[in-house]
Amino acid sequence: MALIPMRVLLDHAAENNYGVAALNVNNMEQIQSIMEAAEETESPVIIQASRGARSYSNDNYLKHLMLAAAELYPHLPIAMHLDHGNSAATCFTAIEQGFTSVMMDGSLEEDGKTPASYEYNVAVTKEVVNVAHKIGLTVEGELGCLGGIEDGHGAGLTGDEALAHLTDPKQAEEFVKRTGVDALAVAIGTSHGAYKFTKKPTGEVLKMSVIEEIHKRLPNTHLVMHGSSSVPQELQDIINKYGGEIKQTYGVPVEEIQRGIKHGVRKINVDTDNRLAITGAIRKVFAETPTKFDPRDYLKPARAAMKEVCKARMIAFGQAGNALKIKPVTKRKMIDFYSK
Ligand code: G3H
Ligand code: 13P
Ligand code: ZN
Repeated sequence: MALIPMRVLLDHAAENNYGVAALNVNNMEQIQSIMEAAEETESPVIIQASRGARSYSNDNYLKHLMLAAAELYPHLPIAMHLDHGNSAATCFTAIEQGFTSVMMDGSLEEDGKTPASYEYNVAVTKEVVNVAHKIGLTVEGELGCLGGIEDGHGAGLTGDEALAHLTDPKQAEEFVKRTGVDALAVAIGTSHGAYKFTKKPTGEVLKMSVIEEIHKRLPNTHLVMHGSSSVPQELQDIINKYGGEIKQTYGVPVEEIQRGIKHGVRKINVDTDNRLAITGAIRKVFAETPTKFDPRDYLKPARAAMKEVCKARMIAFGQAGNALKIKPVTKRKMIDFYSK
């Protein structure tokens, strides 16, 4: 199957009450891990690349790796999504490079750090929607700001500041009406990276109740949870056992994500868990067999470790078993859909 617009996958997920992991990639091995996990679980696939990923791997390599995935797994529906586009121009170059879906993150200014005004967010998101929908592609917007700044994304908000930037459900309703986005990323207390919470999160810091309220107001909008790695203890332990230094930390429990899926969450962004799995596997090889220097000796276990994380999320979010049930929808059909 050719790469398809993400909206097709999210619509199927909504009709059948499941969520889809959106997994970040930067290289061939990560794409292979995801595709092998999807093949084994019969899962639809959302692969996403950030601006950092695009500059690390180069758009041309990325594009052709994604086309290779589509060629090798013609029976699996795959969407290729831009994660955290910081400007309309970034979204448009992604579209030129074959991405079938883009995120216009207008919650922050173009620097990717400063919280933006609501009116700026509406205007820049609408600009991207106008272009993307005319060619049948999907747009995700974001309202509210995530906490943290660990991986270069975000305003560096902590504690009360972060809570003050949670998504306002009433404003979310207006934002979707004014911009026409297909999917909305919401701020509910999570942040990117490994250091999200200092103890297992309660409803005080992880506001799943905000999702429930937004879903009540916007039952037909696909909600997106960013910063949704669970940061499993066992992955922290492997890294630390083999010489790493991960301070004790807590992520978003899978059962909280499952609760979100019951209330309109259809796309769940996961990057950090895969980074942890890869790093743990590589550290183990280096520590146990310091004589090895063939990259395949450590990239193979790294790829296998990431595949296990992807499989676990695909099963937990309910996307497993759904790939073959999704009928391919052409961009043409999506153009007609948006023009109605
Ligand atoms: O949004 C955050 C993702 O984990 C991507 O991170 O910008 O380091 O590629 P990155
Ligand atoms: P994590 O850092 O929790 O994996 O979140 C990734 C993300 O939200 C990418 O946009
Ligand atoms: Zn994100």
